Amino acid sequence: MEDKLNFLQQRREIILKGGGDKRIAAQHEKGKLTARERLEQMLDPGSFVEVGTFSQSGLEDASTLDIPYPGEGVVTGYGTMDGRKVYVFAQDFTVAGGSLGEMHAAKICRVMDLAAKNGAPFIGLNDSGGARIQEGVLSLDGYGNIFYRNTVFSGVIPQISVIMGPCAGGAVYSPALTDFIFMVDKSSYMFITGTQVIKAVTGEDVSPEKLGGAKTHNETSGVAHFLAADEQECINMIKKLIGFLPSNNLDDPPVAAPAEPTLPAEDLLTLVPPDPNRPYDVVDVITRIVDGSDFFQVHEHYAKNAVVGFARINGQPVGIIANQPKALAGCLDINSSDKISRFVRFCDCFNLPMITFVDVPGYLPGVNQEYGGIIRHGAKILYAYSEASVPQISIILRKAYGGAYIAMNGRCLGADYAYAWPTAEIAVMGPEGATNVIFRKEIDKAENPEEERKKRVEEYRHRFANPYITAAKGWIDDVIDPRHTRELLIKGLEALKGKYEDRPRKKHGNFPV
Ligand code: HXC
Repeated sequence: MEDKLNFLQQRREIILKGGGDKRIAAQHEKGKLTARERLEQMLDPGSFVEVGTFSQSGLEDASTLDIPYPGEGVVTGYGTMDGRKVYVFAQDFTVAGGSLGEMHAAKICRVMDLAAKNGAPFIGLNDSGGARIQEGVLSLDGYGNIFYRNTVFSGVIPQISVIMGPCAGGAVYSPALTDFIFMVDKSSYMFITGTQVIKAVTGEDVSPEKLGGAKTHNETSGVAHFLAADEQECINMIKKLIGFLPSNNLDDPPVAAPAEPTLPAEDLLTLVPPDPNRPYDVVDVITRIVDGSDFFQVHEHYAKNAVVGFARINGQPVGIIANQPKALAGCLDINSSDKISRFVRFCDCFNLPMITFVDVPGYLPGVNQEYGGIIRHGAKILYAYSEASVPQISIILRKAYGGAYIAMNGRCLGADYAYAWPTAEIAVMGPEGATNVIFRKEIDKAENPEEERKKRVEEYRHRFANPYITAAKGWIDDVIDPRHTRELLIKGLEALKGKYEDRPRKKHGNFPV
């Protein structure tokens, strides 16, 4: 027995060392932790239990201490994060560059299956050179098996991808199929084709950082949802995100002790300028309404004309969606449509009530928007809100014009309650545009057309651009003092706790992509 235990111990030590001291030192020199160090930092102390420690491709001889790829370049298992169970993998770049072969993929699939069966979030730490070249098609099938599970388990358990090194080629599609992607600044990158291939094919000269670095995917492509300055900050952000999420689609999101906003509600009287053309920061509004003034943005650096993220109202996690008047006047465009609809679908999958703050002048006009398919992208928001059955409350802060009024979860799309602040203007279009259409003849005939136009704009604003016509027809439940917003949200969410909505049976709808 002692011999056997010694042998076990020796084999385990080799596995725990991954690619060995030299490669571990090289990893540290790049400012990166190893796979095991990352798991240690991310999970509660002592909670990690490894699964598949001795997995090995090519079993010519598993009875020696000659292990070609210790751990197969990935560490898999489960543990707890702030006391909650999560399933994890961490690719080990020190072993064949974290490349993915048959058993590397099998280890990942095994913990994915366990996560789904046990209803726990699944977190993957990516740091890999992609398909293990020596294993050929076995690697490709391995990826396929992961993609399949990413898809089948989508909407069943939260799936989180963390990019902490290279993630290239088809490997990027597993993260892309998951709910959220975190990237670490300067040390992570994602692309389908590398810079050299791009240069050869299109002649474009671009650095890996510019092509697929953390900033590129957070600001430009929208592929990533979170940007962390370093690995430690990234781990803290993952913990924060997990804190808002239920473990699976049958669970309720984790409730915390209620906390009043730290910023004063009184500010809500002055934050939104009555002049509909003056910008302001909608985050200032949100932080005066949510618990502890704590708002955790998703996609913070992308499509800044919309704001989405998580917060708590009276301890209850909620998803928040808002137009952002300080960017593009809060217009909806292609990118913000994608940003909003994806977030709405996530909230609906995982039982997170949604609160929508509306201040939107419409969809962004422009040839590029039309050519880029604003029609089908804009349709995503309509579809996502209409499909959602979680509790939904909309608050119209100021402008709610045209199709964008509907898109931002007007009651007609399924909001359970809709409220307007006294500053709200709900109309088919803004007063200037409307006046030019319906009073064109009067303006043209007037002695002083400019004066006449101004007069007609004021007249229109006074008659139509207010919340009371919508309230009169019942599409707004009340016009409220802005300072009462939080209280109404607390009561509304409480009243919606038993909400149940049935829909016609179908396999699945045809979401406009
Ligand atoms: C096998 C690999 C590997 C791979 C890296 N290594 N990538 N081994 N298969 N895909 C090994 C290296 O040989 C090296 O081994 C060690 O990992 C570290 O690699 P380095 O090149 O020394 O590291 P670095 O300079 O940091 O460069 C990292 C890298 C580079 C940019 C990721 O290794 C690279 O370009 N690798 C190939 C990437 C690639 O083309 N992958 C296939 C993509 S196609 P030693 O023993 O020297 O330490 C794909 C298809 C998936 O993934 C399709 C799914 C649908």
